[in-house]
Amino acid sequence: MCSPAPDPTYDDVVRAAALVARELPATPLQSHPLLDTAVGTEVLVKHEHVLPTGSFKVRGGVHLAATLTDEERRHGLVTCSTGNHAQSVAYGARLAGVRVTIVMPSSAPAVKQDAVAALGADVLVRGTTLGEAGEAARALAATTGGSFICPTDPRIVLGHATAYLELFGQATPSAVYVPIGSGTGAAGACLVRDALAPGCQVIGVQSAAAPAGWRSWRSGTLETAPAATRASGLATTTGYLLPQRILRDRLDDFVLVLDDAIDAAARLLATRAHTLAEGAGAAALAGLLTPQSEGRPGRSAGPAVVMCTGANASADEIARLAAA
Ligand SMILES: Cc1ncc(COP(=O)(O)O)c(C=O)c1O
Repeated sequence: MCSPAPDPTYDDVVRAAALVARELPATPLQSHPLLDTAVGTEVLVKHEHVLPTGSFKVRGGVHLAATLTDEERRHGLVTCSTGNHAQSVAYGARLAGVRVTIVMPSSAPAVKQDAVAALGADVLVRGTTLGEAGEAARALAATTGGSFICPTDPRIVLGHATAYLELFGQATPSAVYVPIGSGTGAAGACLVRDALAPGCQVIGVQSAAAPAGWRSWRSGTLETAPAATRASGLATTTGYLLPQRILRDRLDDFVLVLDDAIDAAARLLATRAHTLAEGAGAAALAGLLTPQSEGRPGRSAGPAVVMCTGANASADEIARLAAA
């Protein structure tokens, strides 16, 4: 779905961080003793959901805005997303004063569609899955001359990687748990970990109800799978080339979690860490609570970090958490 691109490097991340820091504050990395007690180990939460748009994804849109080509500025942007990448690109386009059309599948929560429109983007609803919306977005770009921004564009990966430059300056964790949809965040984590904290494990977490990334990582080829997860940020239907290439030899483990386990983790964040996360934002904690895969070496000393990547929970999600 996305054109081949060279792998970004750690030096690229450092340059991206300087651009991102002009627009976004560093996010807190916090300990919540009640959460430690519930989990049975020392956990630090990286609160990425406090960023504008309510998700780590805005780092990608801000970096994109700072690195747009003249052609992209002239012709405007087209992208596809279930919600947080959409808000991120809409946010970046507004910063840069550039037109953007976002194609979203009908499965994208209304709250996210509304948020994208509120940022000034044109929203088109096409298809029921992210894959279908992606095809419609490419077709639209081809007919209108707009520049298609792949959700795994290297500039987006680099923006997301800046969260990990921050993280490894804030603590020396033994492991960092990262939710995976397309894999941009986890790829960024691996790039920075390799340079700054080689002893820290990077563990990817995906919903068992949308396992395309997990399957791709295990098989070494790009695989597709249905996406039936309730966590819209994790509802990808295919593996993505660039992140998978980075993750292949660098990710220490990749665990699948049930959607009910994601809900249980979201409840823990709400009740033990005063944090209202959306499903994708709670998935990392669900991954920490899942028994580790056979053969993964034990962690070194130090806290585990869970990336709380987003807080754009729909009214339904919030009601479900409260109902249990
Ligand atoms: C809140 C949240 N967390 C995690 C992810 C997964 O990120 P990635 O697609 O970079 O793997 C997403 C994707 O949209 C998201 O919105």
